[in-house]
Amino acid sequence: MKFSIVVAALASGALATPKYPQKLSKRTLEYSPPVYPSPWMNPEADGWEAAYTQAREFVSQMTLLEKVNLTTGTGWASEQCVGQVGAIPRLGLRSLCMHDSPLGIRGSDYNSAFPSGQTTAATFDRGLMYRRGYAIGQEARGKGINVILGPVAGPLGRMPAAGRNWEGFSPDPVLTGVGMAETIKGTQDAGVIACAKHFIGNEQEHFRQVGEARGYGFNISETLSSNIDDRTMHELYLWPFADAVRAGVGSFMCSYQQVNNSYGCQNSKLMNGLLKDELGFQGFVMSDWQAQHTGAAAAASGLDMSMPGDTEFNTGVSFWGTNLTLAVLNGTVPAYRIDDMAMRIMAAFFKVQKSVELDPINFSFWTLDTYGPIHWAAGEGYQQINYHVDVRADHANLIREIAAKGTVLLKNTGSLPLNKPKFLAVIGEDAGPNPNGPNSCADRGCDNGTLAMGWGSGTANYPYLITPDAALQARAIKDGSRYESILTNYAASQTKALVSQDNVTAIVFVNADSGEGYINFDGNMGDRKNLTLWRDGDALVKNVSSWCSNTIVVIHSTGPVLIGEWYDSPNITAILWAGLPGQESGNSITDVLYGKVNPSGRSPFTWGATREGYGADVLYTPNNGNGAPQQDFTEGVFIDYRYFDKANTSVIYEFGHGLSYTTFKYSNIQVQKSNAGVYQPTIGQTTPAPTFGNYSADLNDYLFPSEEFPYVYQYIYPYLNTTDPRNASGDPHFGQTAEEFMPPHAIDDSPQPLLRSSGKNAPGGNPALYDVLYTVTADITNTGSIVGDEVPQLYVSLGGPDDPKVVLRDFGKLRIEPGQTAQFKGVLTRRDLSNWDVVLQDWVVSNYTKMAYVGKSSRDLGLSIVLS
Ligand SMILES: *[C@@H]1O[C@H](CO)[C@@H](O)[C@H](O)[C@H]1NC(C)=O
Ligand SMILES: *[C@@H]1O[C@H](CO)[C@@H](O)[C@H](O)[C@H]1NC(C)=O
Ligand SMILES: *[C@@H]1O[C@H](CO)[C@@H](O)[C@H](O)[C@H]1NC(C)=O
Ligand SMILES: *[C@@H]1O[C@H](CO)[C@@H](O)[C@H](O)[C@H]1NC(C)=O
Ligand SMILES: *[C@@H]1O[C@H](CO)[C@@H](O)[C@H](O)[C@H]1NC(C)=O
Ligand SMILES: *[C@@H]1O[C@H](CO)[C@@H](O)[C@H](O)[C@H]1NC(C)=O
Ligand SMILES: *[C@@H]1O[C@H](CO)[C@@H](O)[C@H](O)[C@H]1NC(C)=O
Ligand SMILES: *[C@@H]1O[C@H](CO)[C@@H](O)[C@H](O)[C@H]1NC(C)=O
Ligand SMILES: *[C@@H]1O[C@H](CO)[C@@H](O)[C@H](O)[C@H]1NC(C)=O
Ligand SMILES: *[C@@H]1O[C@H](CO)[C@@H](O)[C@H](O)[C@H]1NC(C)=O
Ligand SMILES: *[C@@H]1O[C@H](CO)[C@@H](O)[C@H](O)[C@H]1NC(C)=O
Repeated sequence: MKFSIVVAALASGALATPKYPQKLSKRTLEYSPPVYPSPWMNPEADGWEAAYTQAREFVSQMTLLEKVNLTTGTGWASEQCVGQVGAIPRLGLRSLCMHDSPLGIRGSDYNSAFPSGQTTAATFDRGLMYRRGYAIGQEARGKGINVILGPVAGPLGRMPAAGRNWEGFSPDPVLTGVGMAETIKGTQDAGVIACAKHFIGNEQEHFRQVGEARGYGFNISETLSSNIDDRTMHELYLWPFADAVRAGVGSFMCSYQQVNNSYGCQNSKLMNGLLKDELGFQGFVMSDWQAQHTGAAAAASGLDMSMPGDTEFNTGVSFWGTNLTLAVLNGTVPAYRIDDMAMRIMAAFFKVQKSVELDPINFSFWTLDTYGPIHWAAGEGYQQINYHVDVRADHANLIREIAAKGTVLLKNTGSLPLNKPKFLAVIGEDAGPNPNGPNSCADRGCDNGTLAMGWGSGTANYPYLITPDAALQARAIKDGSRYESILTNYAASQTKALVSQDNVTAIVFVNADSGEGYINFDGNMGDRKNLTLWRDGDALVKNVSSWCSNTIVVIHSTGPVLIGEWYDSPNITAILWAGLPGQESGNSITDVLYGKVNPSGRSPFTWGATREGYGADVLYTPNNGNGAPQQDFTEGVFIDYRYFDKANTSVIYEFGHGLSYTTFKYSNIQVQKSNAGVYQPTIGQTTPAPTFGNYSADLNDYLFPSEEFPYVYQYIYPYLNTTDPRNASGDPHFGQTAEEFMPPHAIDDSPQPLLRSSGKNAPGGNPALYDVLYTVTADITNTGSIVGDEVPQLYVSLGGPDDPKVVLRDFGKLRIEPGQTAQFKGVLTRRDLSNWDVVLQDWVVSNYTKMAYVGKSSRDLGLSIVLS
């Protein structure tokens, strides 16, 4: 084992300044095993054949400098998008644009602000997930973006307080996997490459970056390490990423933090082993912004694109660029590896975008001014940089629909739907506008007025924001209701005077916010510091409900909040979670409150009674001296409802819960076994590594093109300054050979054995994993008096002593007329019924008796049947 530790250390260290072995203080740190060489593309991969052919043709014409240009960002703020790589003018390809975010176009104008991923997950509606991905893709395309940086499955949501959970979908891997696949298909069908991120174990904001943590006064020298065992990795965190690969995603983003003490963007086990070998990912991996810490070692570990290209923002130097040109010329990075990087980028490009004739990028992330420097950081190239193209089309309708259908009716004792209420009183700052305007806080890093988006890079500017107050008032007036609102949480006497009147229906709006770690708002460094409501929301709810016997509570939040102090008050007649609804917020909630939309959202997480009840929590204080803080995922696969079930604790509202204005009855569960045959492990080996095109060994061919070359300040280029490689690199440790510091097999180009769990040509793992083994059906009857959408949920119990009580495996969304019965049909694949066998390194269906359940939530499973 000692050998492995040394090798992993080499692979993990910086290119020129190996940081390992670290001083290991009290504990022995987890390590990540080496997996080399980096897998090359498979020309026969399903869905990638044509793209491969086109890419091969293109890449075969490229010079080494052009290939390096394609793989290396031009530096932070060097161009218009949040990240761009060098252009290939000779072959007619402009600089590719990588841009945020998972819910719209960040920092632009005349774009839409969509509901968050988490709110979209709450719809449990595959069609809406797809349509949202498609609409975001259309808007990105309309701005000239080539890769939109979403969707998110990391964080998955291990800890409810984690700052960015709302950007993703749900702590349930199946629901997230569906969200990933549908979003990716939609986005890429619209002609924009999607980016599955952040790979992997990126479950909290604290300590994700050294500089950021130091800025907050935490003196650490390395980022957090998420220590995740192999079974948990497969059965939980990798699961939705497998769905992303299977859906044909073109790109991945590796993460800031470490896994087992090896950085996400140079961890060969993660990128070479899990992603490219096992899942058969054929697209490219880009680094998160400043998540690259090494040059040749990152290339050998499977990184394909350096973002934003400079070592740290605005240093003007790069681990790649010039260094990558030199590393290929001196043999540290084999030619096949740079060819494979270029192939992967161009194959993803051709798979989604077909032709190199691209529309120009028509916006600048760095300013909304019409004219300005195209090279923002350098302040060079003054010209028109914003064309203010309106890309919104009719997406407002879709946004309104998703947010309404993603609203979860948690409680209703009969006050909803509203029907021409005599007097409506709306209370709370969260119902009203931000007095400074909806976009007034940079990257939404504050919480004034109604909350419709979290903060950080996962945001977009609002084209407008319909507040609940505005929409409810318009509706009340139309109905002839009396209407008053108090848009502050701190007017107790006026609020009491208002809501104590006869015949009042009071709606209280409250919220809790979170976001990305670079913004610290009110002591929340990305991650929430508590799970309670903000701005004294609990006091507001308790006050209003003590004065008014018909109090309705609406929560806008980035995850669960603790509501145990008031949720069961008889005066609180309804509770709704409206998530982060985006620009149409007020219209969406009005549609639900008045029954124009019969609620059908289901909670994508558990509402626990206490914070401790969730088990795993954010690590807020470094626990390893100045070294990498260690987050041990010791709870294994038991997060969210799986943890509550295992601990057998009661919850306030369980995962999957959500009410309707009608009622449904479940009956007649049936199971049908399919003849799927036996599992065939994949056997055989790859081809040897191909190379595409030749390159000259004469360093003169790699110098800057001419004296007059328009060198932009701090811009990252592929060229050399001088034919002296040591000076051209400027690397203080220049001269180490591959043999000296690269791990064994890192430059091996011989055929490699295929993993038994991999799909020979099928992205997403062994295709037999996706064979349907059982089909489960049940009858759902609408026993109420209005039409409604029901979300039947199919859970299984795998039966082993280490398995969760139940796990979600499929769901449906059925529109059923009153008195009518519809059939739900869910499928169980081999993967759904398997465990990851860490010894065999494959999925295995255990011999334990397995049960299927169909019901309304994870704790309302009325129907069950043995799978035999
Ligand atoms: C992390 O270490 C655990 C052993 O504790 C191992 O099971 C797992 O495969 C490792 N994962 C990675 C990505 O290195
Ligand atoms: C690399 O990209 C830059 C622009 O990003 C461009 O000026 C230069 O010509 C490109 N170099 C090659 C060799 O294509
Ligand atoms: C941070 O830790 C390092 C290593 O222990 C130490 O040398 C340095 O003085 C510390 N810096 C601060 C600001 O405490
Ligand atoms: C090459 O990489 C090293 C770090 O490994 C860095 O110090 C140097 O500035 C880089 N050179 C260029 C030209 O970017
Ligand atoms: C925004 O909220 C902060 C508290 O978080 C408050 O101090 C400030 O006054 C608010 N600003 C406006 C314009 O409402
Ligand atoms: C309004 O309140 C009064 C006094 O409590 C009550 O008599 C009356 O029935 C109420 N009207 C409606 C429409 O609820
Ligand atoms: C929780 O954090 C929020 C936001 O910083 C703050 O408004 C609230 O007072 C905190 N709650 C408690 C109980 O401290
Ligand atoms: C419910 O509201 C009424 C006023 O309508 C109040 O008298 C009563 O104390 C409230 N009950 C609770 C449990 O807050
Ligand atoms: C390359 O040359 C430019 C211009 O002389 C200089 O600013 C830069 O520092 C040089 N880069 C290296 C890596 O020596
Ligand atoms: C090869 O080039 C890379 C990148 O500049 C450098 O780090 C390495 O030390 C060089 N090795 C040799 C043997 O020149
Ligand atoms: C299931 O039982 C059969 C017969 O006892 C045995 O051959 C097989 O290995 C078992 N499978 C697993 C996964 O334990």
